[in-house]
Amino acid sequence: MGVMNLFKKKSNTPQAIPKHVAIIMDGNGRWAECRGLPRSVGHRTGVDRIRDTIEACVEYGVKYLTLYAFSTENWNRPAAEVDYLMNLFMEALQNEVPKMHKQQVKLRFIGLKDKLDPDLVELMEESEKLTAGNNSLTVNFAINYGGRSEIMAAVKGIARQVREGELEPEHLGEEDLAKRLFTLGQPDPDLLIRPGGEKRISNFLIWQLAYTELYFTDNYWPEFSKKHLLAAFEWYSKRERRFGRV
Ligand code: IPE
Ligand code: IPE
Ligand code: MG
Repeated sequence: MGVMNLFKKKSNTPQAIPKHVAIIMDGNGRWAECRGLPRSVGHRTGVDRIRDTIEACVEYGVKYLTLYAFSTENWNRPAAEVDYLMNLFMEALQNEVPKMHKQQVKLRFIGLKDKLDPDLVELMEESEKLTAGNNSLTVNFAINYGGRSEIMAAVKGIARQVREGELEPEHLGEEDLAKRLFTLGQPDPDLLIRPGGEKRISNFLIWQLAYTELYFTDNYWPEFSKKHLLAAFEWYSKRERRFGRV
């Protein structure tokens, strides 16, 4: 073995900064309730943390950030809270997209647009178009997103093509499913962060998280500052990612 090979980085050497970070932004309601405030204040304060997190990810050279804002299950909340959240998304996009554009952030929305207010969908599509050419950080906002529904849609697409004789079941590989997901062309998340104290995935990116490092913290999302993000990166940098090897 040549001397240079001895010093070559092993492929499982932990990287300090994850390339793709996914966050389940949880705990808005409890953060507010602890302070005797309405849950809506928690959601509003959560938007401030989104802004900080995007800025920090741009600064640290993260390439993809996927944020869980509203799940397919969140429709089961009281109508007033759902309405509040939908209006908050509209307001946040109007206020924040110009700032993100200045930072060269590329915005994408993952989830099904069909159940959303047409005005919100229009804003989402305009934001995607405006930022399509940007290349610092790609932010995937998950709104009306569910991992199972994403996989089901992919399976239906494959089934249709099999019926038409365009695909052979025997020749199908993992790539055939992965390329039918919202995250097509993007690497899988390296690090998942879930504030709010719960240790579950809640139907988020269930295919893509197969080998992701999972970081749970009791801090609520409205208090999750850059300091907490760096603590998660620090923890991540100490993980040894084996991907099944020894
Ligand atoms: C996460 O905070 C935000 C959304 C799901 C939209 P929660 O609203 O779930 O806050 P908790 O979990 O009730 O504290
Ligand atoms: C997950 O949080 C969804 C989002 C953060 C958007 P939830 O608060 O809805 O998750 P559960 O209900 O505790 O699993
Ligand atoms: Mg919650």
